[in-house]
Amino acid sequence: MSLPHPTRQSRAVITGASSGIGEELARQLAASGHSLILVARRVDKLEALATELRQKHQVTVDLKPCDLADRDARRLLNQELAQQEISILCNNAGFATFGCLQDLDPDREREQLELNAVAVQDLTIALLPQMIQRKSGAILIVGSTSGHQPTPANATYAASKAFANSFAEALHSELRGTGVTCTLLAPGPTRTGFTEVAGITKIDGMGGNAAWISAERVAREAINGMNRNRRIVIPGLLAQAQTIGGRYTPRAVLLPILKQVFSRLT
Ligand SMILES: NC(=O)c1ccc[n+]([C@@H]2O[C@H](COP(=O)([O-])OP(=O)(O)OC[C@H]3O[C@@H](n4cnc5c(N)ncnc54)[C@H](OP(=O)(O)O)[C@@H]3O)[C@@H](O)[C@H]2O)c1
Repeated sequence: MSLPHPTRQSRAVITGASSGIGEELARQLAASGHSLILVARRVDKLEALATELRQKHQVTVDLKPCDLADRDARRLLNQELAQQEISILCNNAGFATFGCLQDLDPDREREQLELNAVAVQDLTIALLPQMIQRKSGAILIVGSTSGHQPTPANATYAASKAFANSFAEALHSELRGTGVTCTLLAPGPTRTGFTEVAGITKIDGMGGNAAWISAERVAREAINGMNRNRRIVIPGLLAQAQTIGGRYTPRAVLLPILKQVFSRLT
């Protein structure tokens, strides 16, 4: 099974398209002829990207600025999107906080769970019926290697990504035979705006270039994976090793190590 072919009326929705992995997903899907609907809060960034992609690829690019952590705003967006023909849904928007839970802003922690988990579920629920009805559609859910194990000093993020990872893999199996696919993208460290938003830019220099991969490569592997109806895409050897370590190392061994590492990041 491959990705739905682009048509005049169909759209690929990309959340978090104003930066990083989402911006690259938008670039690469537009290059394959898909018309897009870009979602994020920073309108100036979305406008600049839309102008570039319209000129370069002659595709339609619509903007839907929205704070996806806001339930009311999200409900309106989801209703609007459900009225259009959505062939591809990339649930990508997300952010992380680092630090011990008692030191973090409770509102920001709730916002994180709302964006990384509940909004993903909401948007998927809103758009899945039309895809099933057409027997065609592709869903990408951006989880993380962080979702494979609990992570002290990054507790809410890891838990929110555990939801995303599990939800995506379950849907992949549920949807078999429907004509609709679901792929989990579970990246490790990727060069984007992520560390700045999380306030952990001091890790940017750690591990050299070998430890980090580009958003361009992550997006490319994600789209290839969707094209082949892969259950899970984990770009890069480091992320693959992190996944095995996170899944199979006994928690009693793993948690103290992660606590040491992650409590030093802020
Ligand atoms: N970079 C990594 O190392 C890494 C590793 C594993 C997983 N991931 C995951 O990859 C995904 C993309 O992140 P990234 O690395 O590309 O980071 P990024 O460059 O910071 O991009 C995050 C995107 O999410 C959007 N966003 C944040 N809050 C939002 C909100 N309330 N409503 C709507 N959009 C919102 C941002 O747009 P606005 O600010 O304009 O709203 C931005 O477009 C996230 O789910 C992240 O958890 C990243």
